Order: sequence, then C-alpha cells, then structure tokens
Amino acid sequence: MSWQACVITLLPEAFPGILGHSLAGRALAGRALDEGVWSLDIIALRDFGAGKHQSVDDTPSGGGAGMVLRADIAAAAYDKAVAAHPGLPVLAMTPRGKPLTQQRVQALADGPGVIVFCSRFEGVDERFYDTRMVEEVSIGDYVLSGGEVAAQVVLDAALRLRPGVMGDARSGEDESFSAGLLEYPHYTRPAEFEGHNIPDILTSGDHAKVDAWRQEMSEQITRERRPDLWEIYKKKT
Ligand code: ADE
Repeated sequence: MSWQACVITLLPEAFPGILGHSLAGRALAGRALDEGVWSLDIIALRDFGAGKHQSVDDTPSGGGAGMVLRADIAAAAYDKAVAAHPGLPVLAMTPRGKPLTQQRVQALADGPGVIVFCSRFEGVDERFYDTRMVEEVSIGDYVLSGGEVAAQVVLDAALRLRPGVMGDARSGEDESFSAGLLEYPHYTRPAEFEGHNIPDILTSGDHAKVDAWRQEMSEQITRERRPDLWEIYKKKT
C-alpha cells in the first residue's frame, strides 16, 4: 500500500513543489510519486470558504495586526481530510509547535502516511485546536510566511526514508541524527583540491580504520557544534 500524504493548504498550487522533482539518476520523491510509491491528496482551504468571496479568515478578536484563519473553515477541511484518510496522524505546521525530530520523521515514515495542515496568516482560531486532534509541529525557531514550506520539509524528510524513494537504502541509516551524531566529512575526486588532500586513511582500503575515523569525526563535530546532541549521545552510550 502506498504511503499517503494529504495536505490542507490555502496554496494548493504550491504542491507537490520540490517533492515533484527528481535528481538525475535517482528515484527521488517525484518519480516515486509517479510510480505510486506514495500518493498526494491536496485539500484546498478556499473550497471551504464562507460567502460569495469564499473567505477563510477574519480580523483577530481583541484587535492587533494580521488575520486569523477561521476555526469553522479549518475544521471543515480537517474533517474532509480525516474522512478520506482515516487513521492518519494530523500535523499542523506552526512555529509554536513541538520541534520536528528525526525520530518523529522516522515514525511517520514507518506508518501509513500523514495529513499536514498548513497554517497561514497570524494563525488559526484556537478553537480549531480545542476541537480537533492535531499535533502542532515546528521545523525550527524562526517564522515562515506559512506552513507550506514546512509541510514540504516534513514530507521530504519522511519520504526519503520510504523504500523505493531513495536510491541507496544504506544512505538513510548512515547519516546525521539517525545515530544521534552529526555526519562525518565526505570526499571524492580530485585527489587534491586547491592544496587540500583527501585524508590518507580514506584511500588506504582498510575499512575498519575508515569506520573508526568516521566515527571519531562524527563525535568531534557533534561535540563542537551541537553540545545538546552530544550530551544525549553520551548518556545513551
Ligand atoms: N509556519 C511558520 N513558521 C513555521 C515554522 N518555523 N515551523 C513550522 N511551520 C511554520
């Protein structure tokens, strides 16, 4: 059964976006979409808009700048998505959500799919969250103009873990975050670039030594750049 992605958005034309593109020679998400490895259902919030102008937002109660997405409109789109895709987890992309992690992404990839609600404007009327089962998720401590880019981040991160999406299955395991460490440095030809050589160990043919070097580099980079991750890793090992 193919992995189901359902996106609720005010910008349906923004999808599949980057997910529809394949890199030459690699069966990435675009080709995988064509081949039915995953499916994409786009639900346009505008279709649930009120009145002649299909309006979806209104001014914030209590005053202030910007517009707020109406709870009744958001809920109608949500209900349609959930009815069409029963059992899928529903994420709402918002900077106030829980930070997205590789662990959460892996769990999504291991499941049947995901419904992603893209917020726009200043936010969504809180009564939407009060009345619907939604997991609010952030992709980082910065503010985007809407959840569409964030939704594509979630889908990209999950899809590349699905069988048939990424070329070499091993490259999903051997990388940043999957072991709790950042990735070691990579090299390829030419042997020398602007006076910089490839470390001898990588061309020695000694696989055990290569593995040990990579592990050491991963640990060093994580210690220097992400002390938060390093502390967690140290406790685990
Ligand atoms: N929408 C706006 N900013 C966002 C963020 N940082 N993460 C997820 N969704 C967002």
